[in-house]
Amino acid sequence: MRQKMENTLTIGVVGAGNMGSGIAQKFAQEGLNVVMLDIKEEFVERGFTTIRNILAQGVERKILTQEKMDETIGRIKGGTDFNLLADVDLVVEVVFEDANVKKDLFAKLDKICSEKTIFASNTSSFYVSDLASATNRQDRFVGMHYFFHPAKNRLLEVIPHKGTSQETIDRAMEIARLHGKTAILVQDAPGFAVNRFFVPLLTESVKLVEEGIADIPTIEHFAKEAFGIGMGPFELMNVTGIPISVHASATFGRELGKFYDTPALLTSQMEKGEPWSLEGEVNLAPAQTIKDRLYGACLGAAAALVSEGVATIEDTDIGAKVGLRWRKGPFEIMNHIGIEKAYEVIKSISDNNPDFKLPEVVVKQKELGVPFDFKVVNLVVKEGIAYITINRPEAMNALNEVTVDQLKEAFTTAQNDDTVTSIVFQGAGKTFVAGADIRFFVKNIKDNQINNNVSFTQKGHDLFLDIENSAKPTIAVLDGLSLGGGSEMALACQAIIATPAGSMGFPETGIGIYPGLGGMLRLARQVGPELTKYYVFTGKPISAQDAYELGVVTHLVSQQKLGKAIADIGQETLPDKYRKRDIPERFQELLATCSGANLDALLNKGELSGVSSTLAQKTQKTVGYKAPLALQKANELIDAQQGKTIPEAIQLELAELDGIFSTKDALTGLTSLGGPPPQFVGK
Ligand SMILES: NC(=O)c1ccc[n+]([C@@H]2O[C@H](COP(=O)([O-])OP(=O)(O)OC[C@H]3O[C@@H](n4cnc5c(N)ncnc54)[C@H](O)[C@@H]3O)[C@@H](O)[C@H]2O)c1
Repeated sequence: MRQKMENTLTIGVVGAGNMGSGIAQKFAQEGLNVVMLDIKEEFVERGFTTIRNILAQGVERKILTQEKMDETIGRIKGGTDFNLLADVDLVVEVVFEDANVKKDLFAKLDKICSEKTIFASNTSSFYVSDLASATNRQDRFVGMHYFFHPAKNRLLEVIPHKGTSQETIDRAMEIARLHGKTAILVQDAPGFAVNRFFVPLLTESVKLVEEGIADIPTIEHFAKEAFGIGMGPFELMNVTGIPISVHASATFGRELGKFYDTPALLTSQMEKGEPWSLEGEVNLAPAQTIKDRLYGACLGAAAALVSEGVATIEDTDIGAKVGLRWRKGPFEIMNHIGIEKAYEVIKSISDNNPDFKLPEVVVKQKELGVPFDFKVVNLVVKEGIAYITINRPEAMNALNEVTVDQLKEAFTTAQNDDTVTSIVFQGAGKTFVAGADIRFFVKNIKDNQINNNVSFTQKGHDLFLDIENSAKPTIAVLDGLSLGGGSEMALACQAIIATPAGSMGFPETGIGIYPGLGGMLRLARQVGPELTKYYVFTGKPISAQDAYELGVVTHLVSQQKLGKAIADIGQETLPDKYRKRDIPERFQELLATCSGANLDALLNKGELSGVSSTLAQKTQKTVGYKAPLALQKANELIDAQQGKTIPEAIQLELAELDGIFSTKDALTGLTSLGGPPPQFVGK
């Protein structure tokens, strides 16, 4: 039953420099074939050397195996012959930032490449439409703007111009997903989305020095504090190169007005050819002025781009969090400092820069007098299928109150839409859903409000039951990791389509609680209580392949076939997910660790029998790290849920929640993430 699945797309990357080599590396790492070209063999070789060095660091740090490194390099074919691009699916142009060089290249490629080939440019400063005009395939031309380092930074701005076809946009978004990118859709405007508000952070910082308001170390300090970033604006300019900031701001100055233009001090620093000096004491006095000015410039620019329709508030925030690694996006910052305050600091920038118009979205929000409301769940209906996407990639799509509310809303809309015949749930970015938002649980425990955790879980159950019982088929798309509540949500759907990147897992007993959203009861109904106990007690991931062989995943397809598989599933009759099934032989040993006398032994550190000593040791060691009370409760619940109806089984789970959240171990476990492994005391 094992399936061989190849990613067969071939991507051409033209320009093997800093960005091009990283982009080629990323595509190859994610299993796509790459043709990497440059004008001279030595430049291609240099590209390969860069890739090898970066991958070798990964091998050294044990995040990559030598085999995976060799495989990745093996997928990249290098050269200088542009005819190698004749049949590729997509060409990503990553040559010098020179419009003529780029246009000449595209005109040449237009003659060489087949009809199907989509062209993408990684330009930072030209209009995509202008570059597209050099070709006769403007409908198959799009911007794909990567961020340094493109093999590590997940963000990708996908930029259609006015002539780009919807098919090309869809394809670009799909290819973004295929190579593990978090894509945001952005209009063809100067600086696209992220640089539009990032560059003003740099220029405004320089202006503060120019005006004598503060020195560099002071601005560095308060900028880091204001935006939750590890490097201040001056250090960032030193790292990326001051000329890039000059070039970007000069382009903005020409296109968007004087407010965005290069300050004289920035130009003179570039001419000196020296980095900014960051040394010195921090002066606390101008703290507020610095923050107000930087917020005003940066949030103002973000609000301006949204007002112009360049990107949504959600995508703008994702851009900041994923691309720039800010703690909060510009609109979340506005909510955090308060809409009144945000309006005031932006207005002050506008008052002092007559060409910077007060952005409409801020004016409107101030009138409304409420914080920005974020859409974290999107609903798109296409050819009878409702695609419901959880769009919090920076939080691995974790379920919180807002997400559950919006899921419910989107689901209800899809249910009531007569044109919808099936409903698909998916996660944006690389994850399906990484469980429930743990910070929410912790806050409620600390505030003595465990009842909020219970009512949140109850709400989740209600939604999952509706999904399970829906008259329109409900399908989870497991194209990445799912954990806890995410796996439970997938199990509630009537079918699961997975790619090899998909997985499930129940890490709860390792953080002091038990899976509380129906995962135990739904998995047990499919694969039996013993195997369910094995997965719940150990927290071991269930790969897509395993879940498929167990009949939990209904369809296993390659990422490239995913779109078609989703479209096709609407036409099929789905199998009954609770049908009787045989558990394949290779799972029998796992199952045996939790059956009969072994179950007691496993929970009480006794000897396991009838399984290999390796498995016995491994399982006992893993289970030994888990919270004893959580294990005990999970064990009792899985037993008690046998033979009950699903609503009855849910009530059993809910009834124990208050108790488990009240334990010392729950607080220890839930607050342990990111730190050393929790030490449980069994209380
Ligand atoms: N550096 C960044 O952080 C960054 C970020 C986003 C976008 N970009 C954009 O990416 C592009 C490349 O930037 P980079 O930093 O990798 O530059 P780079 O100078 O490191 O690399 C450019 C490569 O393109 C090759 N080249 C030039 N003309 C060519 C042609 N006609 N055919 C084939 N190869 C050709 C060069 O030999 C060189 O190897 C630019 O458009 C830049 O604006 C850069």
